[in-house]
Amino acid sequence: MPSSTPGMQKTIVLRQRPTDKIDASFDSPTSNFAIVPQPIPTADDLKDGEVVLRVEYAGVEPSMRVWMSEARSYMPPVAIGEVMRSMVLGTVVATKSSKFEVGDQATALAGWAEYLVLPDTGAIKIRSYPGVKPVDFLGGLGITGQTAYWGLTDIGQAKAGETVVVSGAAGATGSMAVQIAVLLGCKVIAIAGSDEKCQWLEKDLGVSKALNYKDKDFEAQFIEHVGFLDVFYDNVGGSILNLALSRLNKSARIVMCGAIEEYNKVGGTATGLTNYTSLISQRGTMKGFIILDYIPRFREGEAVLSKWISEGKIKVETHIHNGGEGGIEGAPGGIIGLFEGKNTGKMVVQFWDATKESTEGVSKLAI
Ligand SMILES: NC(=O)c1ccc[n+]([C@@H]2O[C@H](COP(=O)([O-])OP(=O)(O)OC[C@H]3O[C@@H](n4cnc5c(N)ncnc54)[C@H](OP(=O)(O)O)[C@@H]3O)[C@@H](O)[C@H]2O)c1
Repeated sequence: MPSSTPGMQKTIVLRQRPTDKIDASFDSPTSNFAIVPQPIPTADDLKDGEVVLRVEYAGVEPSMRVWMSEARSYMPPVAIGEVMRSMVLGTVVATKSSKFEVGDQATALAGWAEYLVLPDTGAIKIRSYPGVKPVDFLGGLGITGQTAYWGLTDIGQAKAGETVVVSGAAGATGSMAVQIAVLLGCKVIAIAGSDEKCQWLEKDLGVSKALNYKDKDFEAQFIEHVGFLDVFYDNVGGSILNLALSRLNKSARIVMCGAIEEYNKVGGTATGLTNYTSLISQRGTMKGFIILDYIPRFREGEAVLSKWISEGKIKVETHIHNGGEGGIEGAPGGIIGLFEGKNTGKMVVQFWDATKESTEGVSKLAI
């Protein structure tokens, strides 16, 4: 760890690509990340139209594991030595933009740094809604909430009375998807990785039935409780997707949102789908989508979701990976936590506790 130097901040860069699971340490030969000190930017460093954002939370997403690899995806890989790409939420502490004042809170697709210089076109000012916390703009009202909303309503075309199955249901996207489906009047079957998560999905989020995919008789439970499905909102891929493909109603829609079961195999072989021919007999569709294509409709999605959250119809859950301690060093472990199912709701890493006195924070951030 570098020594303490006032006026400096920590950034985390990609040191080497993982071949399997991520190594979250910073000091071993297999570490995937390195901490690199950088000067804390000030107003003097800004060009017209730029702001300095002090990062409070970073959102953690499974796709970050894909960005660390060389796989062809919807975004280029993060380069070796580059600051790790991440969604962030923070407060503007210096500005040369007419769109932002000091104290405004904003989200941005940026990276793992305690302070970031951003163009004002790359930062989205967050709005205030009753019952909505700023951190919800990384989850329920952010990318994952929007993903659930547009994936279910536009790609999945879910309608009242239909049977909707959601995998990865207790995660950020899944927990929003199940609640939206319940609100649309669907019969909702949720799939998650622990009995505790299943109880939460049934008791707090109102799904008809939640199934633990780690149970030995999961397949039999799936057949018993799902019967046949109209929409499969898939966050997981692999074996659960293959099972769902064998249980399609006529004109069923498979929403290809994510495939976390496959992401640690990047560069390897994905699970073969032996049941895909049912798409022919049942006239089904399987459609992939990337939420970034819906950015022009985000204000529309935000209006619907914020109303539901404010009315208490949707609960937004956040899991702070390094809760209580904070600090940018916790960021790599947040990605690992996703693959271990540590989170219920949105996984975030806290870089800065905004409730603390700023001078205390500055000394804490000095390295
Ligand atoms: N298409 C898009 O534009 C878009 C946008 C955002 C997210 N996504 C995708 O949506 C999915 C969910 O993302 P998220 O950010 O909401 O993450 P998340 O669901 O909050 O976290 C991932 C969850 O996946 C489950 N999981 C991990 N390994 C698994 C495995 N091998 N088999 C089954 N479940 C496993 C874990 O829960 P359990 O305890 O239940 O195992 C974990 O909590 C990801 O695949 C992501 O890539 C896509």
